Amino acid sequence: MNLEEVFPLLAEIKDDGLRRKVVQCYEMAMQRGGWKTLDDIPFTLLIPDAYPYVQHVNNVTAMAYAIGKKREDIHMDVLIAGALLHDVGKLLEYEMRNGVVTKSSLGTYIRHPVSGAAIAMEVGLDEKVVNIIAAHSKEGDFVKRCNEAIVVHHCDFIDFEIARGIQ
Ligand SMILES: [Fe+2]
Repeated sequence: MNLEEVFPLLAEIKDDGLRRKVVQCYEMAMQRGGWKTLDDIPFTLLIPDAYPYVQHVNNVTAMAYAIGKKREDIHMDVLIAGALLHDVGKLLEYEMRNGVVTKSSLGTYIRHPVSGAAIAMEVGLDEKVVNIIAAHSKEGDFVKRCNEAIVVHHCDFIDFEIARGIQ
């Protein structure tokens, strides 16, 4: 799988090492979650027949990228890496069982912001990328969000709430 084809903005990360770590996170999460392709994953189980995970991640990353480009106080590499990875924990929170995507046993106990942050730390991503992942959802209400995390958090909710509205 060529991740740059799946996530076009991955190529916009200028730091080669950071880009490689993003890929490593996906490889690790796919392997641990038992996913052969990202195409099978819906972006949420909270919306029936939700559009695919990949589309959601690309929507959020594209919106975050556009906002980041308009500001001086955003680190674009960190923003893109965090946006691409914000939901990577869903590869562990969900699993395919008898052809149906359902919550995994790990997902019963550990939500995707936490499992995604754990993978990012294991791969050695820096604390701001980890902050974006860990704090993109309500978990982030209990810690400080870095500037890039504020952007991704809002873009994620824009995509989620509009998707919920159009169902
Ligand atoms: Fe998301």
